[in-house]
Amino acid sequence: MTLRRDFHQHPELGCEEHRTAGIVARRLTELGLTPRTGVGGTGVTAVIEGQAGPGPTLLLRADMDALAVTEEADVPFASVYPGKMHACGHDGHTAILLGVAECLCAHTARLRGRVKLAFQPNEEGVQGALAMIADGLLDDPPVDMALGLHLWAGTPVGEIALAAGPIMACADRLEIVVRGRGGHASAPWETIDPVVAAAHIITALQTVVSRNVRADRKAVVTITQVAAGDTHNVIAERATLIGTIRSFEPETTRQVRDRVRAVATGVAAALGAEAEVTITEGPPPVVNDADLTSRVRAACLTVAGADQVIAFEPVTGGEDFACIAQQVPSCFFFVGARNEGEACDQPHHHPRFKIDEGSLTVGLRAMLASVDHLLGA
Ligand code: NI
Repeated sequence: MTLRRDFHQHPELGCEEHRTAGIVARRLTELGLTPRTGVGGTGVTAVIEGQAGPGPTLLLRADMDALAVTEEADVPFASVYPGKMHACGHDGHTAILLGVAECLCAHTARLRGRVKLAFQPNEEGVQGALAMIADGLLDDPPVDMALGLHLWAGTPVGEIALAAGPIMACADRLEIVVRGRGGHASAPWETIDPVVAAAHIITALQTVVSRNVRADRKAVVTITQVAAGDTHNVIAERATLIGTIRSFEPETTRQVRDRVRAVATGVAAALGAEAEVTITEGPPPVVNDADLTSRVRAACLTVAGADQVIAFEPVTGGEDFACIAQQVPSCFFFVGARNEGEACDQPHHHPRFKIDEGSLTVGLRAMLASVDHLLGA
C-alpha cells in the first residue's frame, strides 16, 4: 500500500521509469534476489528459485509506466508531476508484484521450479514487452508459462474476471493521407478538394465492419483525428486522417486492414484524389491459454467466492502482454477495482481514475494462489 502510493505520487512515462525501476531493484535485492536491470530499457527481472525440486519456470509480469494525463483525482497521494499520472493502475501492478516477490521469497521451500519476475516498462507505448523479449526476457531460464493481471475499473472490487481465448484486441494505428490539388476556395472546380474526399472516406469506412465483418466477429474502425487546411478561403493540398483498428482473430484483422486500404484508395480515386494508407501493426490480441486459465480460475476460487470469480467479457483495448502470450502459454486476468461509493468509478486513462485499494490485496492473493497452484509442492 505504501509503495503503491509512493509510485502513484511519482509517476513516470514509458521508457523513463528510472525511479520506479530503482526502487524495484533495491527491494528485490533486499529480498536476497539478484535483479537484472536495464532489461529492454528500464525493465527489471529477477528469478526466485524454488527449493522443493525441479519444475517449470513461471513468469509473472507487472507493468510500471504512467500516462501523460494531469491528475484530478481527490487523493492525498496525487501525482506531484503535472502532466503525468498513474491513470491505468500500473502503480498497483508493480506494488502487487513486489508483494508477491516478498511472500514467495519467504516460502521457497514449498516451490517447485522457479518464478521469474518481470517489471516491464512502456506498456502504454506498447513496445515494452517486445523490448524485454528482445533482451532475453523469455530465455535463461526459458519461460514455460506466464501470468499477468490488470486492476480493472469495470469490475467491482472483490471480484476477479477471467476468460480463455482472445480477451483483448489487436490494436493497429491507422493513418490516411489524402492528396488533392489545392486552390482558391471560390473556384473548387479548378481543384481536387482533399477535404471532401476525406469526408467521403470517413463515411465509407463505417461500412467496413458493418458490411464486411461477419456478425459473430468483433472489430472496430475509428477515425480520431482529422487535419486539413489553414484558413477559410483556400482549398488545401492534402488532408490527414488518423485513427485505430481493433480486432481479435487474425483472419478478421487481415480482412479489416485490406478493406480499409481498398475503401480509402477507391473512394479517393473516385473523386480524383489519391489516398496513401499506412497501417502500423499494433500488439496482437491477448489470447489466454485455455488450460492455464482454468488452473488460474481454480486457484482464484481458493481466495474468492464462487460468485466473485466471474467471466471476463473481451474488450477492444490493447495490451502488450499479448507479445508474451504469443510465445508461451499465458493467462492475463482482471482484478476488480471499482467502488462507486468511494468515487472509484472512472474509466482507465481518465484524470479522476481511482482504484479501491482493497483490489491490491485481492490481486496479491490471486497471484500467490495461482503460483501455489502451478508450482506448489
Ligand atoms: Ni493498463
